[in-house]
Amino acid sequence: MASVLAVQAAYLPVVAAQQRPQAARVPAAPRPSARRAVAAHVVAPIRQTVPESPSTGSAPLPELITKETVRALEAELDNGAAVAALRRFNDNLRSLPADSWEARLRPVMHELAYNLESFNPAFTAVLLKVQQTIGHTDYVRRDTALKHLIQPLAGEYGMHNNEAQARTHRELFSIFYADLMKEPLEALLAAAPRPPAAERFFVQMMRDINAADANVVHQACYAMGYNLAIEYLADYEKTWMLDSFRELNQRVLAPASRPLTEWVFLEVHAEGEAEHAAIGHEAVVSFVPAGEEGVLRRAIQDHDRDMAAFYNHLADLLEA
Ligand SMILES: [Fe+2]
Ligand SMILES: [Fe+2]
Repeated sequence: MASVLAVQAAYLPVVAAQQRPQAARVPAAPRPSARRAVAAHVVAPIRQTVPESPSTGSAPLPELITKETVRALEAELDNGAAVAALRRFNDNLRSLPADSWEARLRPVMHELAYNLESFNPAFTAVLLKVQQTIGHTDYVRRDTALKHLIQPLAGEYGMHNNEAQARTHRELFSIFYADLMKEPLEALLAAAPRPPAAERFFVQMMRDINAADANVVHQACYAMGYNLAIEYLADYEKTWMLDSFRELNQRVLAPASRPLTEWVFLEVHAEGEAEHAAIGHEAVVSFVPAGEEGVLRRAIQDHDRDMAAFYNHLADLLEA
């Protein structure tokens, strides 16, 4: 049984989420002010306490990629294929018809159950790629990057610094699904464990992150670019998903006497992904050499392409 503290911890971000103004329509741009505020909070302690390794010996440390360069790469995602697909998906989600919403939404929720869990092995693979640069990258830079990257992954399992372990995100999604569809998620997944689009997307992610490359530093930089894209797009994805479900609830679910009552999964993600995006950004600027900008861009574009294909498929399902 979950402890009182753990349950309280799982619900803590909800208070802040409920205070957010409800967006009437999907915004055309991210929330840069929120992102900057979180970034400042995330960066400050690490920059103050972790010194740069002394560049003793004959080989000076490579110059790191700048924040400005990484911001420019992120800005390419703002106008990319995945954001367009997410906008289309959310337009369809919020406007689902009252007489067929359940049949259209069930296969989408099935795909999302697998997809959202499949990011966990992707995050683990990213960590491993950075860890495997031992002996090839600077001790302090590598450690600093990993100190960042571990946090969103630990959060998936309900772990946050200085807090009791809360519900995992799989538990929260299962509760959300059961409240929405009035059936247990576990039975759906047991009957059909690998929804096709989400499985295809997972294979693509792992193929890309684990692509064979003799240069372990290139591999790690690619993985960190891929992680950056996941978290940056997740901010759009989860913020808009909460807004869309709020609209669907108000227009369709509540009038049908089926109001959503379990909002925690949607709310913790809508609140948390901006921080994850800031963490992914900080990991990159603490580790990736300036000369690897092309590798970062390739990784970001690879994820943008595959995320777009997945969400366009989900948008199609909502139209079917
Ligand atoms: Fe999560
Ligand atoms: Fe995240």
